[in-house]
Amino acid sequence: MKPFEAFVVGVVGTGAMGRGIAQLFAQSGHAVRLFDAAPGAAQAACAAVSDTLGKQVDKGKLARDAFEATMGRMSPVGALGELAGCDLVIEAIVENLDVKKRLFVELEAVAGPDALLVTNTSSLSVTAIAAACSDPARVAGYHFFNPVPLMKVVEVIRGARTSAATADALVALTRRTGHAPVVAQDTPGFLINHAGRGYGTEALKLVAEGVADVPTVDRVMREQVVFNGAGFRLGPFELLDLTGLDVSHPVMESIYRQFYEEPRFRPSALAAQRVAGGLLGRKTGEGFYRYENGTAVAVPEAAPVSTGPAPFARVWAAPGPRQAALRELVTALGATVDDASQPRADSLVLLAPLGLDATAACADAGLPAERTVAVDTLFPFAAKACKRRVLMATPATDPTLAQAARSLLAADGARVSLVRDSAGFVAQRIVAMVVAVACEIAQQRIASPADIDLAVRLGLGYPTGPLSMGDTLGAATVAAVLEGMHASTGDPRYRPSPWMRRRARLGLSLLHAD
Ligand SMILES: NC(=O)c1ccc[n+]([C@@H]2O[C@H](COP(=O)([O-])OP(=O)(O)OC[C@H]3O[C@@H](n4cnc5c(N)ncnc54)[C@H](O)[C@@H]3O)[C@@H](O)[C@H]2O)c1
Repeated sequence: MKPFEAFVVGVVGTGAMGRGIAQLFAQSGHAVRLFDAAPGAAQAACAAVSDTLGKQVDKGKLARDAFEATMGRMSPVGALGELAGCDLVIEAIVENLDVKKRLFVELEAVAGPDALLVTNTSSLSVTAIAAACSDPARVAGYHFFNPVPLMKVVEVIRGARTSAATADALVALTRRTGHAPVVAQDTPGFLINHAGRGYGTEALKLVAEGVADVPTVDRVMREQVVFNGAGFRLGPFELLDLTGLDVSHPVMESIYRQFYEEPRFRPSALAAQRVAGGLLGRKTGEGFYRYENGTAVAVPEAAPVSTGPAPFARVWAAPGPRQAALRELVTALGATVDDASQPRADSLVLLAPLGLDATAACADAGLPAERTVAVDTLFPFAAKACKRRVLMATPATDPTLAQAARSLLAADGARVSLVRDSAGFVAQRIVAMVVAVACEIAQQRIASPADIDLAVRLGLGYPTGPLSMGDTLGAATVAAVLEGMHASTGDPRYRPSPWMRRRARLGLSLLHAD
């Protein structure tokens, strides 16, 4: 095989993706030939790249010589036959299996016998595309993300008959571009779109169950969850509105069907109904939020209802690993701790359940449900050390007392969400599902644990990889949240993966490969 730096790259289909891919390889020093079936489209793609890079030259971010050298390497061609001699041909045409198969048959006839033929498909089977070729070993998926120059991760997809040499060559070539290659098996959603299913589907489930409303779920995910000092940049519904439910919901349906109705991916009736109603998101001016001039109309957050004098004299924190921290918190917030072994009749009872809902935690300990409120202590909750705390009431909790608890826990300026009972509050459930899906990807050996974490961080912009999230919270804790949801709903979507259970039992990292 030729040295990688001398590889000539062909790009077929020069729309949004093809032009970005062409730019990336030209900037990395490769000669790139661009072909598109639409007359003038390849020239337009070169002009668009020239325009983008020209602006960088004007701003002093790119040297003029580098710009000219890059543009000198990009040549539009008028016929597929002119890709003869390319060492790598990247297909980025319309997302249609039959059209792609026909193109690959033609590419095999045009390209030399050693050329690698790859597809940028997001949702089609690489194995099915490769089946059209007489040598499927040199066919692979090569999945870039939009915009290609900025999204610095690429999935190298191994079809059932892709050779290890083909995958290795793509990994080495990708490294030369500065993008991070991750290798994944040809499975529905590949790695990143598969891993991304947990966040939105569990958020939709929480809203459908009535645990919290849309703005609350988004606020909790942006403000309560912290990994490596950062949270999720967008709440799940903000993300769904940005992508457009007409795009996200069919992806959820497709992945669910392709995995033969795996309950973890079950789409939401709530989303289907909103698609039917045209509430697609930013693009239609209304989705989960309303948009005016492209900006979401803010939904004000209700302040804790003022209840006059607190309807409790003291605060009793349940025994357990969080008792001392909860007592410290209530003291810092100006309340008096009830340190008796059982709560006094006029005490507010605070619980910190893990894997149980407030009702079960309260009933198991024989505590008075009407005086009980649960606090999510899995994410930072200390005084002056968090943006948001999340409380949960049992159905029997006195609403006045719950509001008073909310006021108390907001006394240091933190925002407080009060949600309905659910094993795992809001954030624990969504994060647990994100971790559960990643563990299943690792269990099925679709990708290595390290690649799963890297790909999700770079491709989905999460504050850290999902397996690292699980390690930070503790695999046993995440499994307990899932088991709690499984027990309280009977829904198999919450069953923890064997990958997670084994590592939890053995005290190993979720990143520990077999
Ligand atoms: N847009 C994204 O965010 C994204 C992300 C990852 C992967 N993809 C995948 O990349 C591929 C291209 O997507 P896009 O968004 O760039 O599409 P696009 O519509 O912007 O561009 C497709 C281009 O392919 C050309 N074309 C269509 N059929 C052709 C053929 N038979 N031969 C040659 N050229 C042909 C069209 O003229 C067009 O210029 C699809 O498979 C898509 O699923 C898209």
